[in-house]
Amino acid sequence: MEKIEIKPDIFWVGGIDWDIRNFHGYSTNRGTTYNSYLINDEKITLVDTIKPKFIGEMLSRIKEIIDPKKIDYIISNHVEMDHSGSLPEIAKICPNAKIITSTRGEKGLNKHYKDNLNLKVVDSGESLNIGKRNLTFVHIPMVHWPDSMVTYVKKDKLLLSNDSFGQHIASQERFDHELEWGVLKEEAAKYYANIVMPYGSQVEKALSSIQDLEINMIAPSHGIIWKTHIDKIVNEYKKWAKYESEQKALIIYDSMWGSTEIIANVLREGINEIGINVSIRNLKNTHISDIISEVLTTKLILLGSPTLNNGLLPTMGGFLSYMKGLRPKNKIGFVFGSYGWGGQAVGEIEKIIRDLSWDIPIQNININYIPTEDDLKNIKNIGNKLGNYLKK
Ligand code: FEO
Repeated sequence: MEKIEIKPDIFWVGGIDWDIRNFHGYSTNRGTTYNSYLINDEKITLVDTIKPKFIGEMLSRIKEIIDPKKIDYIISNHVEMDHSGSLPEIAKICPNAKIITSTRGEKGLNKHYKDNLNLKVVDSGESLNIGKRNLTFVHIPMVHWPDSMVTYVKKDKLLLSNDSFGQHIASQERFDHELEWGVLKEEAAKYYANIVMPYGSQVEKALSSIQDLEINMIAPSHGIIWKTHIDKIVNEYKKWAKYESEQKALIIYDSMWGSTEIIANVLREGINEIGINVSIRNLKNTHISDIISEVLTTKLILLGSPTLNNGLLPTMGGFLSYMKGLRPKNKIGFVFGSYGWGGQAVGEIEKIIRDLSWDIPIQNININYIPTEDDLKNIKNIGNKLGNYLKK
């Protein structure tokens, strides 16, 4: 195992999860890392622990630097078990260590680990001296849980940002300049869309609470460490937090006997004719967590399902349930589908996007059995109108 010095006397001592492909329902095609950091100052400080399966990997990295018994402080920036799961075990190894957490963190850790931890609660803005360094804690509730906080190390201009600015990437590389920006942006967007998207206003507050800090490195709890592309990733976060998206379209659908698929393709042609870039995703073939990251960055979203048993196809039902929880805002929506009798699917989709306050400029289309030539002309015309509406 190899520890990595990210700043003088500050080390990455995390674990690399090469194999994980499902992170509570989010498809992690590139795996992930659980990043812990050790600050070797007069008071030795560990920032975040790790998923229990990786405790051996973390300890072996720590042992390259110091005897883990000597750890004085453990900062628990976040209660979720990928970062706190090994706290009870680490606390046994270094029984004198105080565990620093937020007010909500104290509640969460006690619920998880039954009052057995030596906790010290810090307020937002409070600092802790560990020798040459002061650590400042900033609470960032709901980015990702109510307990979430970040730790700022002024001396090193380093922000230990926990889940914020994370990406699920397992790699030998630790720094952003070692990987392509396109890959980093894609994974950071996917992470934001699937983990943080419901909390745009909290992200804006978090960004404003750190905007006056001098920062030349952001070290999150997943993925690579930002030092070359800090401005770029902070700008992306600002856009995502405001629910800004690009002038393009995304068609999300599933089909039973092909009619809804025909409608999807004709809508795509109609929108394309106006010069708008369109992606088309069949829910049978693309994971919902990948589709959601496209929803994050796309302004015009079209959703289509045939009616099955008086309702939605289960793939669309599952997708809508996931999307409803992530609450994408500031979208233009359009709904389409087909049916033999009943025809309830389009209404069910429309209700969900109305509840999300999406702009729905054109009445849905619901085709009985098979679209006719006239239907197809009308559908293409609707695609044209949607493209023009998006361009306005
Ligand atoms: Fe990486 Fe919200 O935990």
